Amino acid sequence: PISPMAIAFDAEKLTLSPEGPTLTRRMSDLEGLFRDHDAWSAAASGDDPIVYTVVSSPVPEVERELPQSITTIMPGDTAGELWMTKGHQHPDHQGEIYLALHGRGGLLMFDGERTEWLDMLPGTIGYIPPGWAHRSVNTGDEPYSFLAVYPGGAGHDYGWVLERGMGSRAFRAESGVDLRPYAE
Ligand code: PA5
Ligand code: NI
Repeated sequence: PISPMAIAFDAEKLTLSPEGPTLTRRMSDLEGLFRDHDAWSAAASGDDPIVYTVVSSPVPEVERELPQSITTIMPGDTAGELWMTKGHQHPDHQGEIYLALHGRGGLLMFDGERTEWLDMLPGTIGYIPPGWAHRSVNTGDEPYSFLAVYPGGAGHDYGWVLERGMGSRAFRAESGVDLRPYAE
């Protein structure tokens, strides 16, 4: 285990200090996730925009530690489907906590049968119970950021979502979000 430590959180810049690794996911990293494959492919082979970034704290992702990260999803949609994270299941079904920090978003969860959607506005704590795959969506027109706190051994099973989907897809609507069944 590492030693007790203070991590400075800048609530305006949404940065952590000291900071761990940063992950950048571009459109080309999101193969097989958007419903409209042609629209995805055109965007991925075109300007290949950054869809989201994940800034981690220095707490390591190992068993019994409790790391944090801040995800920022850019505003946008691909053929109407709102920009989102890949989404994953935790292999050993650990729970997780999200705290919305900036912008507007949604937390889509799927346990293999049931789908749940939580509106995420700054101050909302989204609770992900054990066994629920989770994906975040930017439903607004500015970047959407949230803090995640998760068991260090939780891991990320992305194949689970590629195989089963998330139950619903989130599309841009006049007001808010239009949730449609995955297969449609
Ligand atoms: O731990 C989490 O659930 C988050 O930090 C996510 O990993 C982050 O939002 C990025 O999403 P994904 O891992 O599905 O690409
Ligand atoms: Ni997770």
